Amino acid sequence: MTKPLLQVEGVGKRFGGFIALDGVDLTIPAGERVGLIGPNGSGKSTLVNCLSGTLVHETGTVRFEGRDLAGLGPHQRTRRGLARSFQLPRPFASLTIAENIRVPLVYAAESRRGRRLSEPEIAERIAEVLGQMGLADRARHMPCDLTQVDMRKLELARALAAEPQLLIADEAMAGLSNSEVDEIVALLIGLNEAGITVVLIEHIMRAVMQFSQRLVVLVSGRKIADGAPAEVVRHPEVERAYLGQ
Ligand SMILES: Nc1ncnc2c1ncn2[C@@H]1O[C@H](COP(=O)(O)OP(=O)(O)OP(=O)(O)O)[C@@H](O)[C@H]1O
Ligand SMILES: [Mg+2]
Repeated sequence: MTKPLLQVEGVGKRFGGFIALDGVDLTIPAGERVGLIGPNGSGKSTLVNCLSGTLVHETGTVRFEGRDLAGLGPHQRTRRGLARSFQLPRPFASLTIAENIRVPLVYAAESRRGRRLSEPEIAERIAEVLGQMGLADRARHMPCDLTQVDMRKLELARALAAEPQLLIADEAMAGLSNSEVDEIVALLIGLNEAGITVVLIEHIMRAVMQFSQRLVVLVSGRKIADGAPAEVVRHPEVERAYLGQ
């Protein structure tokens, strides 16, 4: 069996008296495409926030490449190869698309490689990342000029610029048309084929089923199913959670 890239054990998170995550276990081997689904408020983004270091969980451990991430902030985790995109895109509004890529690229990629990148190397990597996301002709535009689908691509490109081993995409397709959804799914599958492990959080089931090699379901902060997508969607508790919505 492949060594796990990410190992989550017993992760629990409360907001005051409210239990947002209740002892979540999750193991993700390198190279996999995992879909993470669950009703609104089931704890998906909270889990991502705990994995990426934006939130601190009260119980449990998160290991990345076998190393405990406790005490590490988001930037340190990004440097180690764990990147995420946000449900609400967060570009630097006053920077061009190319400059938006440059910031995480210089910050994370340089420290991951252990040396400074030269200007031509940076320019080349920016062009590469924008090309991978189909944004090559937008390099000099400002974020406010982008269409919604291009904004989603920029959000993914910013995560990608850090050269992650694991990319967690939190609702990268909300509000997009069917063909745009297909486009984003194809881009994410392309990244996976290029060697990046990808976790996709998504409500659009067509996209989830197209993308996922494995499906994990959260309901009220608890993992209720984890396995082959076709089997997981037939799970009675999963059907109930969705029909009950
Ligand atoms: N910072 C916070 N403070 C208090 N409660 C929070 C906070 N963040 C999330 N919650 C609550 O925790 C629960 C889980 O929220 P979370 O955002 O993780 O859900 P989700 O599964 O990502 O939902 P969605 O599909 O709508 O994005 C919700 O009830 C939410 O209101
Ligand atoms: Mg969410």
